[in-house]
Amino acid sequence: MDIVLTGDRPTGRLHLGHYVGSLKRRVEMQNSGLYDKIYVMIADAQALSDNADNIEKVRSSIKEVMLDYLACGLDVNKVTIFIQSQVPELCELSFYYMNLVTLSRLERNPTVKNEIALRGFKQSIPVGFLTYPISQAADITAFKANIVPVGEDQLPMLEQAREIVRSFNTLYAPVLVEPKAVLPDNQRCSRLPGIDGANKMSKSLGNCIYLSDSADEVKQKVMSMFTDPTHLRVEDKGHTEANPVFIYLDAFATDEHFKAYLPEYQNLSELKAHYERGGLGDMKVKRFLNQVLNDELEPVRKRRAEFEKDIPYLFETLHRGSVEAEMVAAKTLDEVKTAMGINYFK
Ligand code: TRP
Repeated sequence: MDIVLTGDRPTGRLHLGHYVGSLKRRVEMQNSGLYDKIYVMIADAQALSDNADNIEKVRSSIKEVMLDYLACGLDVNKVTIFIQSQVPELCELSFYYMNLVTLSRLERNPTVKNEIALRGFKQSIPVGFLTYPISQAADITAFKANIVPVGEDQLPMLEQAREIVRSFNTLYAPVLVEPKAVLPDNQRCSRLPGIDGANKMSKSLGNCIYLSDSADEVKQKVMSMFTDPTHLRVEDKGHTEANPVFIYLDAFATDEHFKAYLPEYQNLSELKAHYERGGLGDMKVKRFLNQVLNDELEPVRKRRAEFEKDIPYLFETLHRGSVEAEMVAAKTLDEVKTAMGINYFK
């Protein structure tokens, strides 16, 4: 059995970084027919672990994330999309898993450490935040997922989940499945820089191109993108490495785009060579990137606008997904309690 589970924290609309890093691949997985089951979870409870004072942000983002999913082509007939907080069994599993994890182990998690520093928690770390890797282990194991497509920053979560599975299976009975992380295959795309060239596209840095941005907004953002700071005049030699405009082209431009919009070049290597030689201006490259992005995003925008017309349908679908997810999680929880010997009335 190949069971896939993945998810996102609903803390805003999804952007191009999510798109190249994970959304595109989820759609490919969905359409490949290679997997027995695919779950996509909107991790609202996890999002609350550092947004307890901002429920509205999380709440309203559920709708945005769902719209982004459907706009990208996730099909609820092929994947089960659900809301984490609507599957209370996940909390119960977490509660038992907590006994299998030490405080020092949690404090060592490099991703959590980094997030704590970024959020400036210092000595005031919410317990729920420190322990979210345990709850993530519950998310994964509740569905017996063996495949978890994630970004590199999630590897420590998967390691933690595997440790919990091993402890549980050794202590009680082998009911849990060890999950494996699957990283994006194109490493270059897995970390799309922001339009300011910062190393990651991120809401908090304000450097995102959102899937829901209008064509005009995307154009404005592309035209304001950082390029090579040493490439001042058209005649100057330019650098394409670490140049966000070229990194985006790496992620999106195809030879067909060249045929359609820049027929004087066969492909991206030719364009790069010209830029590096000198004589190619940033404006021309940006205009091309804008066309490429528009080709990719226009169908997404159209579908988003369609789904936006029927928000009740969106929530019905999420409800159905959550009911189905709860049934699966309840079965695992029952096995877990039986393995632990605490199913007293059975
Ligand atoms: N931590 C993940 C993120 O921030 C979201 C998430 C929660 C998740 N539970 C999960 C991802 C389970 C994969 C599997 O992106």
